Amino acid sequence: MTRDIKNHLLFEVATEVAHKVGGIYSVLKSKAPITVAEYRERYTLIGPLNHASAQIEVEELPVKDPLIKLALDSMSERGITWLYGRWLIEGAPRVLLFDIHSAAHNLNEWKADLWNIAGIPTPDHDQESNDAILLGYLVAWFLGELVYHDRDRAVIAHFHEWLAGVALPLCRKRRIDVTTIFTTHATLLGRYLCAGSTDFYNNLSNFDVDAEAGKRGIYHRYCIERSATHSADVFTTVSHITAYESEHLLKRKPDGVLPNGLNVVKFQAVHEFQNLHAMKKEKINEFVKGHFYGNYDFDLDNTLYFFIAGRYEFRNKGCDFFIEALARLNHRLKQAGSKMTVVAFIIMPGKTHSYTVETLKGQAVIKQLESTIEEVQKKVGERLFEHCARFPNSDHQHQKNTEVPTIDELIKPADRVLLKRRIFALKRDTLPPIVTHNMADDSTDPILNQIRRVELFNKPEDRVKIVFHPEFLNANNPILSLDYEEFVRGCHLGVFPSYYEPWGYTPAECTVMGVPSITTNLSGFGCYMEDLIENTSDYGIYIVDRRMKSVDESIDQLTNYMYDFAEKTRRQRINQRNRTERLSDLLDWKRMGLEYIKARQLSLKRAYPDKFKNGANPFNNQLNLKLTRPLSVPGSPRGKIGLMTPGDLGSLQEAQQSLNTEDYIGFKLGEGEDEDDDDGRLDDE
Ligand code: UDP
Ligand code: G6P
Ligand code: GLC
Repeated sequence: MTRDIKNHLLFEVATEVAHKVGGIYSVLKSKAPITVAEYRERYTLIGPLNHASAQIEVEELPVKDPLIKLALDSMSERGITWLYGRWLIEGAPRVLLFDIHSAAHNLNEWKADLWNIAGIPTPDHDQESNDAILLGYLVAWFLGELVYHDRDRAVIAHFHEWLAGVALPLCRKRRIDVTTIFTTHATLLGRYLCAGSTDFYNNLSNFDVDAEAGKRGIYHRYCIERSATHSADVFTTVSHITAYESEHLLKRKPDGVLPNGLNVVKFQAVHEFQNLHAMKKEKINEFVKGHFYGNYDFDLDNTLYFFIAGRYEFRNKGCDFFIEALARLNHRLKQAGSKMTVVAFIIMPGKTHSYTVETLKGQAVIKQLESTIEEVQKKVGERLFEHCARFPNSDHQHQKNTEVPTIDELIKPADRVLLKRRIFALKRDTLPPIVTHNMADDSTDPILNQIRRVELFNKPEDRVKIVFHPEFLNANNPILSLDYEEFVRGCHLGVFPSYYEPWGYTPAECTVMGVPSITTNLSGFGCYMEDLIENTSDYGIYIVDRRMKSVDESIDQLTNYMYDFAEKTRRQRINQRNRTERLSDLLDWKRMGLEYIKARQLSLKRAYPDKFKNGANPFNNQLNLKLTRPLSVPGSPRGKIGLMTPGDLGSLQEAQQSLNTEDYIGFKLGEGEDEDDDDGRLDDE
């Protein structure tokens, strides 16, 4: 059947639509502005309804498109409930969230069907798979209804990750007239194998995938993932390293790579983001004063804030490396007699029973001290004023006739008592705590155990202190009340030495905020930047080699990076932040989004080859109109110039005859002049 492909509808399906879990949420949210700009009302995100987050993130709206409404009405008639509305983020895309519980009574029937049509077995008690099946069947139902009612417009359905992928084999088996893309943001086996003690990357081509999945009890999930991969018209992933992994573990070579971008919002002047750093750092300083009360003997002016953040995957996210390298850093700073202190934050949500009393007390005693000092200050001010204002007439007999009063005249005995009480409250016999919360499994927690092993206990002589905050940050938290973004801005260095990281938003986010970070050549982001820029560390992106070096050498390299960073002067740090921030254009969706466009065109080409016959591309004119050069051109990275776009691989290039990065990026890396730093030099020159 032939359809209007120019005005096609686009649906993106994922479990993280309006519901934050990890990086896929960041993909969808940050990409929304450019996708909405391209598609307007023809774009809808589909996901499962999570009441708690939808309540905050989604505004309900009537369904305007009559044919989408018809499809949804017919599902409603059969008891399915859903929420349609506007996701309250920049770009305000339309979202359709299915209440999977309204379909729960179909679960057994659908599971049997999945077994019959795709040979995918599903055990009873795997909630995640059950939810994936419910979502998949609802999405396939919806798409089937839609293309039945809408006979004109072509439909692209783009699925993210296996959890949203069950609909793919269904679309294929039922011959639903849509064209499909599947993007995987990791592979199940990759995540599981890396989390263990496998030498993953050297054995990628040798794994007996079914057996490995079976051993880990994820065979059924793996089947869903593999079937989604093979049923999609176009299969993509987020980095070349994951493409290679997918080829071996999922047994299909991806058609291309869709690297992740960010919605880069530039400040008018560079100093604005530098000021923000200073403001947010002040907030972290406040926390640190409270947390280390009684042991607060270091100089905040010579203190650096390092952090690791992300889902709690101890080995995959490189937390093991981080802690070991911190111990080595501590040793080296002590040996060198450094005046610097490093406070290293670990932000990884674990199972907890709320904040510890000690943590809350730390903030309370410091607040009390602050307010007592404010009171005394006020009284001292009043006394000082009285004294000075009365000076010529003051009482000579009592010898209070000096112009400026003595400190004893200003701070009275009662004030001293009050101050002493506050100061005594700061005494403590224990060391400042490592962890801010009561952990559910304190004695088996991998992070705590590693910290115990390397004996980083926040001792006064330690130059590296640790704070483990086992919960994502939030401005409403009673301590460390900052949103994650504010916290990142206030820090000096993000450290993400991941072993398994298909892309890795955390270092990318640091970059666009002008915060230097450490990543690895096993992360999609690290490889991407390494490929594009010659000396990434000049630009505040340090890449640890975890491929060719031994574990010990990699940890040493990580330690060296941190040590060298700690040696920098403030001026050098400021310059480096300027350079880091200038890389943000490279990560802008305005650039990265091209790969999504190419993937969509390829999916249309595969479904409607006639429209692309003899090299024709129905989108030619449209593209030139829509895509513009990024707002500002990065000045300095001297990178590779080439015809490849960020994600070229395999056959995405099929769609490329008339679609080339050069068409819209309009700049070649390396052409610009280094016009930035206030001293115009690289700091290590
Ligand atoms: N993140 C957050 N709060 C935190 C720590 C992390 O919101 O306290 C976010 C971070 O901004 C990033 C995402 O979690 O966008 C993690 O994505 P990434 O791609 O690094 O890893 P994933 O969890 O997807 O493996
Ligand atoms: C920003 C501010 C400066 C401040 C500096 C501190 O650049 O604009 O006023 O001195 O941050 O930098 P640091 O690396 O020491 O936190
Ligand atoms: C996955 C990966 C992460 C990536 C994110 C978004 O969760 O673990 O590396 O950044 O998806 O693609």
